[in-house]
Amino acid sequence: MSHAIIIDTDPGQDDAIAILLALASPEIEVLGVTAVAGNVPLALTQANARRVVELAGRADVPVCAGADRPLIRPLVTAEYVHGKTGLDGADLPAPAAPLDQRHAADFIVETVMGREPGTVTLCPLAPLTNVALALAKEPRIASRLAGIVLMGGAMREGGNVTPAAEFNIYVDPEAAARVFACGADITFVPLDCTHQALTTAARTAAIRALDTRVARAVAGWMDFFERFDEAKYGTDGGPLHDPLVIAALLAPDLFAQKRVAVSIETDSPLTRGMSVVDWWGVTGAEPNATMLHAVDADGFFALLTERLARL
Ligand code: RIB
Ligand code: CA
Repeated sequence: MSHAIIIDTDPGQDDAIAILLALASPEIEVLGVTAVAGNVPLALTQANARRVVELAGRADVPVCAGADRPLIRPLVTAEYVHGKTGLDGADLPAPAAPLDQRHAADFIVETVMGREPGTVTLCPLAPLTNVALALAKEPRIASRLAGIVLMGGAMREGGNVTPAAEFNIYVDPEAAARVFACGADITFVPLDCTHQALTTAARTAAIRALDTRVARAVAGWMDFFERFDEAKYGTDGGPLHDPLVIAALLAPDLFAQKRVAVSIETDSPLTRGMSVVDWWGVTGAEPNATMLHAVDADGFFALLTERLARL
């Protein structure tokens, strides 16, 4: 099956690997990349997104900048995980191609409304501010999109920023609440799934052994990006979150899924950004999303390695 996608992102080493996986896969047409503030400030995420598409030899892919902060809250960043550049672990040259001057939200609306209904998939890998702004500009994109496949949220795994909240949802819970309530066909990849996909030494070595410029950058990012989570969780490797969104498009059979009703906490200071998943249907609420709650990690890394070898 082929997919035409827009990637909304805050690179971030795992975002960068997700973008490369998409660009390496003939089943996917990347219509554009929209940057948002998240792991690091917008000035860095937009430049990093341009660096990554150029690393893949795809300077033709438009990169737009969007929100430099959440809808109503101050920005929270994650340099403690991603380093001060957001792409620590590999040294990429400054981007050569200019930033596309359209705002990310305008690009999303223009692209979705300018194509046939049901043909564009939106892949958010970051706080959902740009997506919420696009929905506010043009609510019709919710039903016109083929779907939204996002990385975010957590259920039994607990949060990675607070005990309750995963970073992408925590940073802009109001935006996330609007997205999960918009009526689009939503699939989400929470920490319960991404924490099964660890960048073990063997998996990183298999990618480094490809011995290409792209593979060396990816292995360097993995080595840097994993150190925080290895220390925190005591694991061999860290969870490779965002590329699982792209893998879900390429190889859905690698995942276990369940339709669930999901609500986002926006009021409580204690549980702000919690993705409240009604796994057992106790509320009787109509499910509004498909949760990818398990993944065949070996199958995922085999796919990732095979595709990266093509760049
Ligand atoms: O919680 C993990 C998510 O937060 C990933 O998207 C990572 O890139 C960070 O943005
Ligand atoms: Ca991200």
